[in-house]
Amino acid sequence: MRIYEEADYRAMCRRAANILSACVILEPDCVLGLATGSTPLGIYDQLAQWCARGDLSFAAVHSVNLDEYRGLAPQHPQSYRYFMQSHFFDRIDIDPANTELPDGLADDPAAECIRYDTVLRRAGAPALQLLGLGHNGHIGFNEPADAFALGTHLVDLTASTISANTRFFASEGEVPRQAYTMGIAGILSARRVLVAVSGADKADAVARSFAGPVTPQVPASILRLHPDVTLVGDTAALAELKKTGVPFERV
Ligand code: GLP
Repeated sequence: MRIYEEADYRAMCRRAANILSACVILEPDCVLGLATGSTPLGIYDQLAQWCARGDLSFAAVHSVNLDEYRGLAPQHPQSYRYFMQSHFFDRIDIDPANTELPDGLADDPAAECIRYDTVLRRAGAPALQLLGLGHNGHIGFNEPADAFALGTHLVDLTASTISANTRFFASEGEVPRQAYTMGIAGILSARRVLVAVSGADKADAVARSFAGPVTPQVPASILRLHPDVTLVGDTAALAELKKTGVPFERV
């Protein structure tokens, strides 16, 4: 695992955007696995700026997103489809037809999970999967559990995740209780995994994920079995991990 420590959120985003853009430059028609949450916002902003300047093109890229709230329409301002459109897709030259997310309004959850796994299989292995990290070590919406869920599945969100995401809604009652998420097999199928973390509130989850035991109780810990993981974090987010003696690559 490669670990890059950056001074602050801005530098972390620039580093992550550099790694992501390198993938697209080397393989312009690649598949990118994309994530939502506040962490990737600065990464998407940086990529969109490079695209606007003509330094980067997503015209041939396909994207597959990790997750979507169940029950939210694509036009709902808190849906992940809306997030991706407004923060990234509408700002770059990607073909909207080449962007995939689970359908939050699907009538039949089991059928939707099968449909999304078919989408992922047809798209092929992502060249890179971008991930944020939940406070409880979740990736996508793979919450702590007794076993790793491999395929796309419908999740009952934990109290910690609902409360963390309340900041985006008018009240906690409005936060959806369920979400579709790509499973662990989908995430691990990417040729490269890029985990972006920022802030002291993530420090504990980072240490538990990358220095503790590999366990479904800390879903991100499974990433340690992936052959090509890059962790990009700011100093605050890496503080607890550093105490464990994990070696750092500084650039
Ligand atoms: C949500 C998303 C995750 C994301 C996590 C952390 O639960 N489903 O993909 O990594 O939040 O979000 P943030 O980056 O806002 O801390």
